[in-house]
Amino acid sequence: MKDTEREQTLVLIKPDALKNSLTGYVLSQLSEFHTGLRFAATKIVNVSRMLAEEHYAEHRGKVFFPSLVDYIMGRIHYPDEPWKHRVIAIVYQGPDAIKKVREVAGPTNPHIAREERPGCIRSLGTVVPLKDEEGNVIGERMDNLIHASASPAEAEREIKLWFKPNDIPPLMRIYPTAICDSYYYFKDDRLYTTHEPDSMCFLVPGDVVWESDLEALHLIQRSAPTTTSLQAVVAKYLINVKQEGTQSI
Ligand code: RTP
Ligand code: MG
Repeated sequence: MKDTEREQTLVLIKPDALKNSLTGYVLSQLSEFHTGLRFAATKIVNVSRMLAEEHYAEHRGKVFFPSLVDYIMGRIHYPDEPWKHRVIAIVYQGPDAIKKVREVAGPTNPHIAREERPGCIRSLGTVVPLKDEEGNVIGERMDNLIHASASPAEAEREIKLWFKPNDIPPLMRIYPTAICDSYYYFKDDRLYTTHEPDSMCFLVPGDVVWESDLEALHLIQRSAPTTTSLQAVVAKYLINVKQEGTQSI
């Protein structure tokens, strides 16, 4: 089978789409009949701050970043209902998956989407002004209903950030996997291989992991530089794991 046939992309159905009951509409727009793409994985995710900040790492430091993180965590659309804080994460697979989903999604800014691509999913979104304490407009948040990976490199980073290998059927996986060789614990942004009080065990020997995660863990243990942060490795293994006494990681 050709590699382009197995191309994958990450889609997130964001909290504004869930709140507005648009899930069925989005799934229908992206259905195999319309796009030729197949589901490779899907899950309901209570997005932790760590996962949100890693997902949007390229926007760290921008004026809209705090609001963007709150948005994907569900805190904007469900301020008083934390049990509704979730997104639907989906991996689609098939020829030209990345381009096809971006086409159906449309431009990032919903106002531009309405002008340039009426009918695309994001034309149903909204743009919200962001204000400082004095009420001056300092930027905007784009509530654009779905996320879609923009390139093969972004798709790989994002799929490995949201999904463990075993979330994807073995014959659909396209990124190399490895078998975990050690116990790994996380506490206060640090990695441990032996248990520390109040640490979270996120991997045990025998777990199936992304090969790139294991390589990153080995480098972090030796304090060597990595392209994948510890938080990006840890976040997926703690998805939907309840930490006693806290809301989210
Ligand atoms: P996405 O990642 O969500 O599919 O969107 P995208 O590729 O079209 O846009 P990207 O630049 O990756 O931005 C990710 C999300 O950040 C918010 N954003 N706001 N106020 C702004 O200037 C701005 N720029 C980006 C949007 O919610 C966008 O979806
Ligand atoms: Mg993007």
